[in-house]
Amino acid sequence: MAVPSHAAPDGAPRASGAPGPRSTAAARRDEIARDVVGRRRELDLVLAAVTAGRDILLEGPPGTSKSTMLRAITANWGVPFVLVEGNAELTPARLVGHHNPARVLKEDYSAQNFVPGPLVEAMTAGGFLYIEELNRAPEDTLNVLLGAMAERAVVVPRVGQIEALPTFRVLASMNPFDDVGTARISDSVYDRWCRLAVGYQDDAEERAIVTVRTGSDDERLVADGVALTRATRGHPELRRGSSVRGAIDLVAIAHELANLGSYDGADGPDRPRMVLDAALLALSGRIGVDEASELTPEQVITQIWEDHFFSRPGVRRRVPTA
Ligand SMILES: Nc1ncnc2c1ncn2[C@@H]1O[C@H](COP(=O)(O)OP(=O)(O)OP(=O)(O)O)[C@@H](O)[C@H]1O
Ligand SMILES: [Mg+2]
Repeated sequence: MAVPSHAAPDGAPRASGAPGPRSTAAARRDEIARDVVGRRRELDLVLAAVTAGRDILLEGPPGTSKSTMLRAITANWGVPFVLVEGNAELTPARLVGHHNPARVLKEDYSAQNFVPGPLVEAMTAGGFLYIEELNRAPEDTLNVLLGAMAERAVVVPRVGQIEALPTFRVLASMNPFDDVGTARISDSVYDRWCRLAVGYQDDAEERAIVTVRTGSDDERLVADGVALTRATRGHPELRRGSSVRGAIDLVAIAHELANLGSYDGADGPDRPRMVLDAALLALSGRIGVDEASELTPEQVITQIWEDHFFSRPGVRRRVPTA
């Protein structure tokens, strides 16, 4: 290929994150992978984009390891990680920075009384600017961000042009189904990013995540928690299911319930009821019942629980309890 693999397609002078020989890149990936369960392909793709000097947008439902992956990569890169949450209050001035009003009154505007915002902080430190919920940021803020991404510099009134160090990157995440306080991201915004869509991990990986996050050694409980949580996704009565966060909480709560002894411990006859109570606590707020449904979140979870514990082949289904 005529174009060096690290050059930006638009010819912008972007240095890479010091790409090394294949073994170095692979060793780096393996080190990062230690903090993340599965996601080998996704880590490779994000790493390739970042190493190639590109900015990247991760799009996927809540709890699908977007932050986990980006944090692990940034930690390994050894550059500052500047986190900013996209919301209506993220004005261009908040993103870029502002002049300290008290000092402006005393000394007038100057470069010295400029207080850098996260964008300038990341640019001048050569850090990774990580914007969560990118689609919740106002449009004028997105425009400032896109300008900085294209130019690798921003112009601040009364300060001048601020250049980004070569390792500066913009990483962003968003939930494509997010319908709270968001506008649809415009085509021109999409056109400026590399984008990776992430989905839910499989059953075995979700069990591994729950085991790592809770420290649980009760494989049966972890399997039950993951199965109940997964059953909320794509359930006909639900418009929103729970991420693996629900399973993590379910298992952690069930352990505490077992410790309290009110359910005859983790292996007593009351175990299914203990799992139900943990599921109600961990999952009922995380699911969204479809408008057309007349069921309550508690009823849906109880149904899922009955199907899981009592409707397996050869096991007689009990009369619903809720
Ligand atoms: N692959 C994974 N490896 C280890 N932990 C994971 C993984 N995926 C998810 N988790 C755990 O699940 C929880 C949610 O993950 P994370 O915060 O990365 O999701 P997210 O995609 O950033 O979600 P949101 O869109 O809500 O910000 C965290 O507690 C995290 O530790
Ligand atoms: Mg996140």
